[in-house]
This record gives sequence, C-alpha cells and structure tokens, in this order.
Amino acid sequence: MPEVPTSWEPDIARITVIGAGTMGAQIAMQAALCGFQTDLIDIKEEQLGQAQSSLAKLMDRDVEKGRRSQQTVDAAWQRLHLSTDRASAVSRTDFVIEAAVEDLPVKKQLFAELDELAPVHAILSTNSSNIVSSRIAEATARPDRVCNMHFFNPALIMKCVEVVPHTGTSEETLEKTAALAEALGKDPVRLRKEVPGFVANRLLNAIRKEALSLYNQGVAGFEDIDTAARTALRHPMGPFELMDLVGIDVAYLIRMAEYEQTGDPESLPDPAIRELYEAGRYGRKSGRGWYTYES
Ligand code: 3HC
Repeated sequence: MPEVPTSWEPDIARITVIGAGTMGAQIAMQAALCGFQTDLIDIKEEQLGQAQSSLAKLMDRDVEKGRRSQQTVDAAWQRLHLSTDRASAVSRTDFVIEAAVEDLPVKKQLFAELDELAPVHAILSTNSSNIVSSRIAEATARPDRVCNMHFFNPALIMKCVEVVPHTGTSEETLEKTAALAEALGKDPVRLRKEVPGFVANRLLNAIRKEALSLYNQGVAGFEDIDTAARTALRHPMGPFELMDLVGIDVAYLIRMAEYEQTGDPESLPDPAIRELYEAGRYGRKSGRGWYTYES
C-alpha cells in the first residue's frame, strides 16, 4: 500500500460518530480534542447524557492532573455536538465512524440510510472489529468509500487504529482513513485484506481463549491468571480485567457475530461469558463482571 504523501491534506473537517457507547464517546472526544468539528449521534438522549458525563469526568481529571489545559478541553467541548438528529449531522459530514451495536442487519440498515444522507465525497467507516466492511458496503451505492476503522478501548488513550479495506475499497479511501487516524494522534496499522477480528483482536483472542480454558479446567482462579499476565508477561491488564474493561456484552456479541459469519461452533462465546452476559454482568460499565467495581 502506498505511503500517505506528506504534502497531501485530506478534505476532512467534520466527523460524525454514530453511537455514544464507551467507544463512540471517546472516539468523538478525541476527534474534538484534535480540532475536528464532531457530531456524536445516538438514538437515545439518555445514552448521550451518560456519554457527556463520563467524558466530563475524564476531561476534568486530565485537567486536574495537568495532562491537558482547561482551554484545550473547553475548545474541544465547543467542537463536540451531541445529538439525536442523525440526518442533519450526516448531511454535512466528511467522514462517518460508526460505533453502534455489533449486529449485521442493524449495521446494513444503518449504512443504507447513511449512504442516502451523506454527501457524495464522504467516507463511511465502521469501528466494528468483527463485522468486516464488505458485509456492510453492499448495502450502499459507494462501496469504494467504505472500510473498517478500528479503535481500541480506551479510545482516548490507545494508539492503535486498524485500517482495513474490503476488496472494493479505493486506495484514496484507505489513504484518507490512515491520514485521519494520524491526525487523531493514533498509529494506523494498515491491513492488506479483511479478516474478522483483524490483527490485534486475533492476538488477544488467543490469550483470552487460553485464559478461559485454564479457568474452566480449574487450573487457577481468574484473579491469579490475571496476575500471571501482568507480572510474568508485563501486560497492563490480565485477560479477565480486560474483558471487564471492554465489556462482557461486547465480548459476547463479537463472538456471536463471528459465529454468524463463520458458522464455526468454535466461534461461539465461552459458557462462562454467556453466563455473565445473561446475568447482566457486563463488566466495569454495569459495576460487575468478573470483578465487582465500586463506582
Ligand atoms: N478511559 C479513559 N482513560 C482511562 C481509562 C478509561 N477507561 N482507564 C484509565 N484511564 C487513564 C486515566 O488517565 C488514568 O490515569 P488517572 O487514574 O491518573 O486518571 C490512566 O489511564 C492510568 O490508569 P490506571 O492507573 O487506572 O491503570 P493503568 O495504568 O493500568 O492504565 C489502561 C489503564 C490504559 C486501560 C491500561 O491498563 C491498558 O492499556 N490496558 C489494556 C487495554 C487494552 O488492551 N485495550 C484493548 C482492548 S481490545 C479492544 O478494544 C478491541 C475492541 O474491538 C473490543
């Protein structure tokens, strides 16, 4: 894939993030902090309210700790517009990052609508880690301007962004998407072709699968397995802590989406994950997952 020419400036000024969950909210804040006019869209007012308050806490803490100035944060809030009015945001956008639910029919319907609403030049990307963009691009009349742009949790901090084409994605779309990732302060990892899970999640899956197998066999408790990953491998978190951070619901839905794509029973969620999911123990976001959280 050709390098992004240093003289080239992408015509992206206004970004729309669809879905104000953990990922969407932090992606949108990062975009606003990096100087982009940003619309964060959700169908639920309540979700937007939650996103605003969790972002406000993170920004206040950054200011308190001297990691950002109050001025920078205030300017970002001026650029960030939270709204349920998808049509007006998308009609003036240059770049869409979809971070809604991991459900193929929902995404296809959404992308068909985005395609109708967005200006012709706009790129429609999905943050999905498992639903590859070829499955979604077919719902639009602009498959060359559709790709995956995959961020990592917590998106304000993690540097990696995977930029993933499907066979019909144009070079220009990939260049612009990788350049946008850089403009958002991230290090793009360019994949040559799509595969569910991409690169980083495939690596993580291998570790998580082994961790769950050790736990299910009764070899060690999940806390001890986490300790081993932190202290022996110097991972910042163990695999169970990480599942709680990313969300047990996300882990469950990712596996279900993969199963739907592959039909391979190996892809199905581990019974322990299914049990937590069905009990509503989604991890940090619900106060309880593998671990229990105070707030
Ligand atoms: N959101 C935003 N910022 C956060 C955060 C969060 N959820 N959690 C922590 N931070 C920031 C804070 O600034 C915090 O500093 P503060 O306490 O002074 O305010 C700083 O990180 C350090 O936090 P902690 O001292 O609590 O803990 P750590 O030093 O362990 O750092 C971490 C936290 C950055 C989350 C680190 O543990 C880490 O890198 N963990 C691994 C994360 C990872 O692997 N992510 C990939 C997940 S896979 C994925 O996202 C793919 C998707 O498809 C599912």
